[in-house]
Amino acid sequence: MKAVFTRAETPEPSTLERGRQLFAVSVDFLKGVVAMDGMPPADRLEVCFAGRSNVGKSTLINALTGRKTLARASNTPGRTQEINFFTLGDTRYLVDLPGYGFAKAPKPVVEKWQALLKAYLSGRPTLRRVFLLVDGRHGVKPVDTEIMDLLDRSAVTFQVVLTKTDKLKTAELDRIVEGVKTALSPHPAAYPEIIVTSSETGYGIGTLRSVIADIV
Ligand code: GTP
Ligand code: MG
Repeated sequence: MKAVFTRAETPEPSTLERGRQLFAVSVDFLKGVVAMDGMPPADRLEVCFAGRSNVGKSTLINALTGRKTLARASNTPGRTQEINFFTLGDTRYLVDLPGYGFAKAPKPVVEKWQALLKAYLSGRPTLRRVFLLVDGRHGVKPVDTEIMDLLDRSAVTFQVVLTKTDKLKTAELDRIVEGVKTALSPHPAAYPEIIVTSSETGYGIGTLRSVIADIV
């Protein structure tokens, strides 16, 4: 059966509350890793955040955790170079991946990143879902599609999170959401709900927290 893609609705209060509680614990930076052997043991469930450079991964982690400076956000694309592990309480990890598609990155850097990402995605049994961030102003780009292909091959479920939607008018957002649905349809690993967010206004952050609470 072909998946029908929809925009996630704001959950019920009790579901939102579960999400709020999940994140109402201490969150700390654990370590940044550049190779598989540096990974912390896969001893708890985790979710990770992937997406093009500058899409807003680190800012989203800060918004989810209510900590402005936990993950280093920056105007300089390619700021996050390592796979950064954060502890969410004592029993989960949040994982901030380095951005891809940074035009100025030299080829060996890109290749190294892809190899590490592949190894992480296929070798991490505790990874429950990849949140694939897509800039609400730009929609899905060819580099995003490449990552989706990789995720299909790794059989890791990914869910698109639209970011920076505070920059869009309603009609533009609707158009972008429709474009994302079309782009997702050939991907078996795509989760059928798209989450619309703004780390700037907090829109959709509660929804994303509850989605995470459902899977970890
Ligand atoms: P890399 O680590 O380089 O891959 O980037 P990143 O995906 O972690 O992006 P980061 O969180 O560093 O954000 C990049 C820029 O986008 C920063 O200037 C943020 O302030 C801005 N930004 C992130 N989220 C939002 C948002 O929801 N709305 C607006 N208006 N700006 C945002
Ligand atoms: Mg970052």
